[in-house]
Amino acid sequence: MEPHMKLNEETIKSPSSKRLINKVAVITGGARGIGAATAKLFAENGAHVVIADVLDDLGASLAESIAGRFIHCDVSKEQDVESAINLALSWKGQLDIMFNNAGIAGVDGSITSLDMEHVRSAACELGVHLIRVNSISPHGVPSEMLLSAFKRFGREISPQELGEYIGKNASLLKGKGSTAEDVAHAALFLACDESSFITAHTLRVDGGYTSAFSHMSFIYQDLK
Ligand SMILES: NC(=O)c1ccc[n+]([C@@H]2O[C@H](COP(=O)([O-])OP(=O)(O)OC[C@H]3O[C@@H](n4cnc5c(N)ncnc54)[C@H](O)[C@@H]3O)[C@@H](O)[C@H]2O)c1
Repeated sequence: MEPHMKLNEETIKSPSSKRLINKVAVITGGARGIGAATAKLFAENGAHVVIADVLDDLGASLAESIAGRFIHCDVSKEQDVESAINLALSWKGQLDIMFNNAGIAGVDGSITSLDMEHVRSAACELGVHLIRVNSISPHGVPSEMLLSAFKRFGREISPQELGEYIGKNASLLKGKGSTAEDVAHAALFLACDESSFITAHTLRVDGGYTSAFSHMSFIYQDLK
C-alpha cells in the first residue's frame, strides 16, 4: 500500500467548499419548514433553486432572497409538478436534484410501516441512468405541520417549547431536539456528489428515537 500522502495547505484548502456548485434543484414544499431550510442551504452551497409550493407569498419572497425562482405548484396535480420541472429546464437547461419534500402530516403510525418499496423500485429503475433515489425520515421538527398536529390534540405550544419537549422526551440524544436545518444537512449530503454511491437508502434524522420506539402518537398526548 502507498503511504498516506502528506497533507499540505493546498490539499487541505479546496478551491471551494460549496458542495452543489451549478447544480439545479427543484424543492417542493420549499416555502417554509424543512423545505425552506433546505432551499437556503442548497443556495448557500452554490445551487440554483426552484421553490415549488402552494404558499405563493412566502415561496416568492424566499426565492427572491436566494436568487432562485418560485412557481405555484400543488404536488397533487401532475401538471403543476411538470411545470416546476419545466421552469428549471427553461431557466438553467438542466435539473440535477429533485427534493420531493411537500407533504401533509399523518399523526400516527410506525416509521417502519412507510412504503419504502417506492424508493427501492424507483432506484432500481433509474440506476441505469445513474439517477440516485433516496429518502429522508425526519422526526420531531418543530415546523408548522407538527405544531398544527399538536393543536389538533388540544395542545398550544411554541416552536421553542416543542423543540425542548422533543429533546427531552423523544430523542435518544437527551436535550437535543430536531431542527429543520438537521434535515436540510441530510438532504445536502444525499444531493451532493459525496454520496454518489448511495441509492435506495432511507436516512433517518431522528436522534435515534424511531429505532427504539416505532409509534409516535404518545408524544401528542403526554405533554409535560
Ligand atoms: N416536521 C416533522 O417532524 C416531519 C416528520 C416526518 C415527515 N415530515 C415531512 O417533511 C415534509 C416537510 O414538512 P415540514 O415539517 O417542513 O412542514 P411545513 O408544514 O412547515 O412545510 C410543508 C410545506 O409543504 C407545502 N405543501 C403542503 N401541501 C402541498 C402541496 N399539495 N403542494 C405543494 N406544496 C405543499 C406547504 O405549503 C409547506 O410549505 C413533509 O412531507 C412532512 O410530511 C416532517
